[in-house]
Amino acid sequence: MEINSIGIIGAGQMGNGIAHVMALAGYEVRLSDVSQDTLDKAVALIERNLDRQVSRGKISAEDRDAACARIRPTLDVVEVAQTDLVIEAATEQEAIKQKIFDGLLPHLKPNTILTSNTSSISITRLASRTDRPEKFMGFHFMNPVPVMQLVELIRGIATDEETYRACLAVVDRLGKTAASAEDFPAFIVNRVLMPMINEAVYTLYEGVGNVRSIDMAMKLGANHPMGPLELADFIGLDTCLAIMNVLHDGLADTKYRPCPLLTKYVEAGWLGRKTQRGFYDYR
Ligand code: CAA
Repeated sequence: MEINSIGIIGAGQMGNGIAHVMALAGYEVRLSDVSQDTLDKAVALIERNLDRQVSRGKISAEDRDAACARIRPTLDVVEVAQTDLVIEAATEQEAIKQKIFDGLLPHLKPNTILTSNTSSISITRLASRTDRPEKFMGFHFMNPVPVMQLVELIRGIATDEETYRACLAVVDRLGKTAASAEDFPAFIVNRVLMPMINEAVYTLYEGVGNVRSIDMAMKLGANHPMGPLELADFIGLDTCLAIMNVLHDGLADTKYRPCPLLTKYVEAGWLGRKTQRGFYDYR
């Protein structure tokens, strides 16, 4: 099963990073979203991030130009469906992901592998509603995609070995490392990371520390590159809450109860960097 072209649905934070690394690795990329404006912003951001890599001597100007030429932004889902591997990287809401897959299914090539960059939703359940559960997988990148070395590969109950091997080969070609995870709520990274972030929000909620002292404690005391609240702002508080809800519902254990303060911030529309306000003020 040779993969030459990649279709990416969703040109936001994760989708544009995935397009960036796929194009640099030599894949033909079709990047789609619902508005031209989002696509234009995504392409501009990819160019800026590639420029940064050129200026730091990570890649050559020729590599950058070739990567840009391999990315075709499109509003047409049919173009995406005609690729060898589709990665859905839309917002972390099951109903939205479902709608995207429903729209894609009639146009897919018979052999196309369908994947989701979901950070927590059941791969088995998403796969079961498609015509190809054996060719469906979780393909989960970390943010920022061009920098982070890991990709989690999650097999649903029906995923076949050929599909897994084809995805593993893509991860190898990206120069990244795959961690294989079983299909349980939030897989490995977010099963461990999100309760830590949620606990940091409880620490703030209960007045154990303030935003800066909590982050400083974890940066200097545990050698984390970012404090947990800064990281939550970076990931998006809505995404953090969605993942905590998946853990809470899926594992039915009160230890995964989302902190009420996290819920309140999301209700306020304070979603972190993307809305310029979260635990920190970026305005
Ligand atoms: N594209 C390309 N390169 C980028 C980049 C991007 N979007 N963002 C940063 N970089 C590069 C920089 O150019 C720089 O490169 P050099 O080492 O060659 O100089 C390097 O990354 C470090 O960047 P900065 O110097 O600007 O900043 P920093 O040292 O503070 O590092 C960081 C930034 C890499 C984001 C670091 O703070 C970090 O690792 N933070 C933690 C990130 C993390 O935990 N991510 C996982 C989140 S969980 C997740 O994603 C899963 C989920 O489902 C929610």
